[in-house]
Amino acid sequence: MRLVIFLWCFIALVSAAPQYHVLPSLRDRAAIQNSWQKERIEKVIPRILEKYNVDMWIIAQREYGEDTVFWSLKMAETFAARRRTIYIFERTNGTYRHHIFLDNTAQIWKDVRSVVEKADPRSIVLNIDQDIAFSDGLHAGEREILERTLGPWRARIRREPNVAVEVIETRVDGMLEVYRQMMENVHAMISEAFSARTITPGQTTTMDLVWWYRERIQAQNMTTWFHPSVEVFRKGGHDKVPNEPEDEDVVILPGDVLHVDVGVVAYGLATDTQHMGYVLAEGETEPPATIKNALRTHSNKMQDAVRRALKVGSTGDDVLKESLEDIERQGVVGTVYSHPIGDW
Ligand SMILES: *[C@@H]1O[C@H](CO)[C@@H](O)[C@H](O)[C@H]1NC(C)=O
Ligand SMILES: *[C@@H]1O[C@H](CO)[C@@H](O)[C@H](O)[C@H]1NC(C)=O
Repeated sequence: MRLVIFLWCFIALVSAAPQYHVLPSLRDRAAIQNSWQKERIEKVIPRILEKYNVDMWIIAQREYGEDTVFWSLKMAETFAARRRTIYIFERTNGTYRHHIFLDNTAQIWKDVRSVVEKADPRSIVLNIDQDIAFSDGLHAGEREILERTLGPWRARIRREPNVAVEVIETRVDGMLEVYRQMMENVHAMISEAFSARTITPGQTTTMDLVWWYRERIQAQNMTTWFHPSVEVFRKGGHDKVPNEPEDEDVVILPGDVLHVDVGVVAYGLATDTQHMGYVLAEGETEPPATIKNALRTHSNKMQDAVRRALKVGSTGDDVLKESLEDIERQGVVGTVYSHPIGDW
């Protein structure tokens, strides 16, 4: 029943025209973002340290040579690590504490050593990992000094890449509502771009649309993390193949299928969306059955397969394998890939 209601709401949502949301001022957004950071530092990190039975987690970095995790811990008003910035999160005797040291003299290492001696942790996690970039943020020189500083506690260093990954991936409650608004902004933007308000067939080019998105994102008081791309698939023309240069400037014509890849950033959160569009040909009042059918029998089946496979507790590899097997059984040819979404 719950599923039925959910699907119905989803249909109602997508069929209503998406609206732009006016985002709060930068100052108000910073306050919201900082409340999330507080929750991550005070509630999320201790929960993850407990889950992996870690006594101490140290994140050390210098100005402009930040650990990947730094970006998930910093406050909204912070744009880089300052001098040398060291975070220590510790769970000792059932008590959770965190320390932030900021200094560019040797004193900082004495401070770190003193925290370690006092806590005498059984395990110290450092962000070193050969597979997961998010868990490998400790710079090489920084690691050398840190290991020297730890002295006898060096033997307690443990690698637990899931600590960094889970801190970065965990979304706190308040983010969801904001994410919905950001996504509605993206959907409103795509509706506006893929319409006669923005495209004049025979005149407007794919690059015009790309730069239209860039300006629109800025006008909505958001930023982005990648240059958008817009491509044309044309009957009788070449098939768009992966890895083809995306900077080809093409005049959009009636009967073209369009594709956009666009993302926005606000409140430290990032989105990433790809949509298809169709430009009505002369005399058409709706897309031809072949186009609608392609959407239903390929794209939508693919989306449904991925949605079915996305289950709490599954790994990315599980979802990938299950989705690909599912679409293969249905005779759909497709590709599944993803980026982490959230702080990145
Ligand atoms: C963008 O921010 C400016 C300055 O705060 C504000 O005047 C404007 O209404 C905002 N625009 C949108 C679309 O949110
Ligand atoms: C933890 O408890 C032990 C035994 O009560 C005590 O000696 C030690 O100082 C405590 N450590 C910290 C960091 O409070």
